[in-house]
Amino acid sequence: VSLDDIQGNVICGYANDHAHYVFARVIDPAAVRGWLGEALGRITFNSSWGAHRPEHTLNVAFTHAGLLALGVPDERLHGLGAFRAGMAARAELIGDAAESAPDTWPQELRGNHLLLTLTAWTPHALDGARAELTERLSDPASGLSISHMQPAKTLPQGREHFGFSDGFSQPSIAGASTGPRAGEGTLRLLWGWRAIALGEFILGHRDEGGLAAPAPEGPLGRDSTFMVVRKLEQDVARFRAYTAEQARIHDRDPAWIAAKMVGRWQNGSSLVDYPDGPGPDASDPEARERINRFKYGDDPHGHACPLGAHVRRAQPRDALGWQGRLTQRHRLLRRGMSYGAPLEPKRTDPDGDERGLMFVCFGASLERQFEFVQRQWLGDGNVFGLGADRDPLAAGAIDQVGSSEPRGMVIQGRRPLFLAPLPRFVTTRGGDYFLLPGREGLEALAAGRT
Ligand code: HEM
Repeated sequence: VSLDDIQGNVICGYANDHAHYVFARVIDPAAVRGWLGEALGRITFNSSWGAHRPEHTLNVAFTHAGLLALGVPDERLHGLGAFRAGMAARAELIGDAAESAPDTWPQELRGNHLLLTLTAWTPHALDGARAELTERLSDPASGLSISHMQPAKTLPQGREHFGFSDGFSQPSIAGASTGPRAGEGTLRLLWGWRAIALGEFILGHRDEGGLAAPAPEGPLGRDSTFMVVRKLEQDVARFRAYTAEQARIHDRDPAWIAAKMVGRWQNGSSLVDYPDGPGPDASDPEARERINRFKYGDDPHGHACPLGAHVRRAQPRDALGWQGRLTQRHRLLRRGMSYGAPLEPKRTDPDGDERGLMFVCFGASLERQFEFVQRQWLGDGNVFGLGADRDPLAAGAIDQVGSSEPRGMVIQGRRPLFLAPLPRFVTTRGGDYFLLPGREGLEALAAGRT
């Protein structure tokens, strides 16, 4: 199987530190097809990413409305419920209510047709690429209108705004040149790890169930994948104030409380491997090899990593039994990046700036992967024996039974701790579901032959 014609950043993350997410709408479909034909040579594919790392990258994805605007017949997109509906229409299901509800999202992050993602390893390279792209797109002859430009940047040491090392636990993909390193992939029946079927991430290939996920008909269904984009604002002051207060009440360190909520230490080391204090840093190459080599079977009651911690919910590994077989159909390739400047260290009151995570993930099924994880594992505690408790970081505002009442979190242990009801640390500011076509799909779109 050749992976060459899949767009870049899917099979293998770029690990570039600077990005611009450019949201746009189609004004003149014929002109956009012309622009796309011309841009094709500049789009980054998996094959562009060999020994020579490009200085900057360009990728393009389309919403359902975007594909229709470009003349794709609707019947070619049947059976794609969540994609067709769009993220805003799925708000109730994924918990985007109250302050996260789509009617509070800024207009420019709603009803978009295209997402152009630029990344680069230096700010200078990004600036150059951005200037060129915006100049081209601001010419009415491109047929596009830019609705929103969102810069993003990796924070020092690869940390997200709450202070945790992020992005290194990813599934290994069968046929890709990397992995599986232990813990990336899926558990084997007896021991070890194996890579996950390509069809879990790329349309048109067999998935872990031996079938291919529903895909657009024709060229758009080849070498393509679905992309979830969510602008998630993080209230860092509130997070710090909460963890400090709970630490005071329970006579613990705030970093310990925060680590128990996330399920890893700030430096990325696992609570299962290092229950009493941080182990080696995630940025250390040797530690990185081992950083995912743990199972929750070694910590069945959550005394090391709480049953409701973010990483344990988001990928329960073997925690649901059956050698991890219940989790392998719900894996996400995460490729997000932080936006906004970090809050000053130690500050626990808001500074008025906006910051958060441009959450991006890829997968062959929006329903079975992103939406399932968001709703069943982050938005509810039932399957973990935690009632209706939600994820301490990233749950939606409502749970399965439609309640928006804040809930606490239990830190299991010989003497369990009960954290006070969790305020909202993360608010959805906008987002959408996109299709990221492969080379053939892009060519067909440019030629109007979809
Ligand atoms: C602002 C919101 C969020 C923050 C701050 C956050 C933070 C983190 C951190 C620090 C990690 C551990 C590092 C790693 O494993 O790479 C992690 C892991 C993960 N997160 Fe999030 N996250 C957020 C939202 C989400 C959402 C919305 C989802 C899915 C719907 C999600 C899914 C995952 C998954 C699948 C893992 C990997 C777990 C594993 O493989 O062990 N996260 N997150």
